[in-house]
Amino acid sequence: MTEQTIIRFDQVTKQYDHDQAVLNNVSFEIERGKFYTLLGPSGCGKTTILRLIAGFTEPSQGKIYFNGQIINTVPANKRQVNTVFQDYALFPHLNVFENVAFGLRIKKMKQSQITEKVKEALRFVNLEGYDHRTISEMSGGQKQRVAIARAIVNEPEVILLDEPLSALDLKLRTEMQYELRDLQKRLGITFIFVTHDQEEALAMSDEIFVINKGSIQQSGSPIDIYDEPINRFVADFIGESNIIPGTMRQDFLVNFADKDFECVDKGFDANEAVEVVIRPEDLEITEPSLGKLQVRVDSQLFRGVHFEICCFDEAGNEWLVHSTKRAQVGETIGLNFSPEAIHVMRFGETEEEFDKRLEAYDG
Ligand SMILES: Nc1ncnc2c1ncn2[C@@H]1O[C@H](COP(=O)(O)OP(=O)(O)OP(=O)(O)O)[C@@H](O)[C@H]1O
Ligand SMILES: [Mg+2]
Repeated sequence: MTEQTIIRFDQVTKQYDHDQAVLNNVSFEIERGKFYTLLGPSGCGKTTILRLIAGFTEPSQGKIYFNGQIINTVPANKRQVNTVFQDYALFPHLNVFENVAFGLRIKKMKQSQITEKVKEALRFVNLEGYDHRTISEMSGGQKQRVAIARAIVNEPEVILLDEPLSALDLKLRTEMQYELRDLQKRLGITFIFVTHDQEEALAMSDEIFVINKGSIQQSGSPIDIYDEPINRFVADFIGESNIIPGTMRQDFLVNFADKDFECVDKGFDANEAVEVVIRPEDLEITEPSLGKLQVRVDSQLFRGVHFEICCFDEAGNEWLVHSTKRAQVGETIGLNFSPEAIHVMRFGETEEEFDKRLEAYDG
């Protein structure tokens, strides 16, 4: 744990009643001032993690630390955390000003101070002059910003955002992604953002936790997670991938589609069965004789910027290619790729096992 650590989960397990655990031995650290995203499919435990941080529920086992202190049983109103909910949870009978002022009134702050703070929060989210509007007179994006203003006005150390953009249409959603990211940078507060949209997670985060079935599968920067997924779940969930069965011959040499290829991966057993990932945009279309692989084009879709071409190699593997070049259905084409484009994964490996394996390799 470093100076920068603001929240730490130490082997946290959460079980509701006598059901199966919805979080299993989850450990992670959150650093001050960064933008974190919890990413995973519906039901994987994202909201449960936020509820534990906010103090709306307690862990069944394990410890939660905030600024170095255990806070397992500290009530929600005593935590330096505010939540922005998916449905915003604004008060429909109060105007914009009073919605934002709510937390300050509970703290019995002086009126002059409340006015100053609310105005500042509204300025921060670009809602100056909207004080007297009722909530029903606000658009979806504006309500979103009121909810954020209501959270930041309390000057929390951490803001939790549970799928705050999911109710917005695509264009507004993209705009709000920029706004939220910008707001987080200006405020310098830690944001923990929940989404099941991988593109949103890649675009916004300093750090992503990919979660499946109550366990963190992988954590890291968007680029790390995209380029070096640790297992099939992560490779499949983040972006589109070709995941092909293979055999690791030796360090830096992998066999798939009945051929040996130079790669940059190491630390596997000799002739270990592995899974090989190559991203569709890392495959280059060539003349058949110039390609490392020869494939037959099965179908093609125009996706606006690129063609999405589905092909099969002679071993029967399916390959998805993203290319600005068009192909002809039925023709044989070559596929080229660099050793760096190949990413080799051990079956079902966890992040911890992966780290240990490479540590052992590097001696
Ligand atoms: N109060 C509760 N009592 C019992 N089970 C619960 C409770 N809250 C959540 N669960 C269960 O815990 C699991 C994780 O739920 P959680 O809300 O954390 O998922 P999520 O990742 O936020 O999903 P979504 O993307 O659908 O919001 C689910 O199987 C859910 O049914
Ligand atoms: Mg949820």
